[in-house]
Amino acid sequence: MDLKFHHLGIACKDIDQTAERYSLLGYTRGEQIFDPLQNINICFLTHPEMPLVELLSPADIKSPIVQILEKNGTTPYHTCYSVTDITEAIGRLKKQQYIVVSTPKIACAIDNHRVAFLYHKDMGLIELVEE
Ligand code: NI
Repeated sequence: MDLKFHHLGIACKDIDQTAERYSLLGYTRGEQIFDPLQNINICFLTHPEMPLVELLSPADIKSPIVQILEKNGTTPYHTCYSVTDITEAIGRLKKQQYIVVSTPKIACAIDNHRVAFLYHKDMGLIELVEE
């Protein structure tokens, strides 16, 4: 597998409040972006020595992360891996019983790279981003 760890996605209710917590760990926040495809607000947090973190908060009540926030509060939501060929990687993961939750779409928050979401009951939700 050529999957490389890219970022950890954290669902949160309030990006400002959660980013403030991460700033206490030495993280620097980037600009906040609205993603109309997922109906969420996104903010990437960077650290010189620690993995990239993506904060996701619902833009409104119809956002796909509303339910998990109601159930768990602020919580890890997905792990993201980069791949060279997203179509090929999805094909391989489907053979490993992953279910495609969201087919490849352009992600405005990741410099217009294509992203897709897949789910496996023993892995949870993963995101693929094409390099
Ligand atoms: Ni993500």
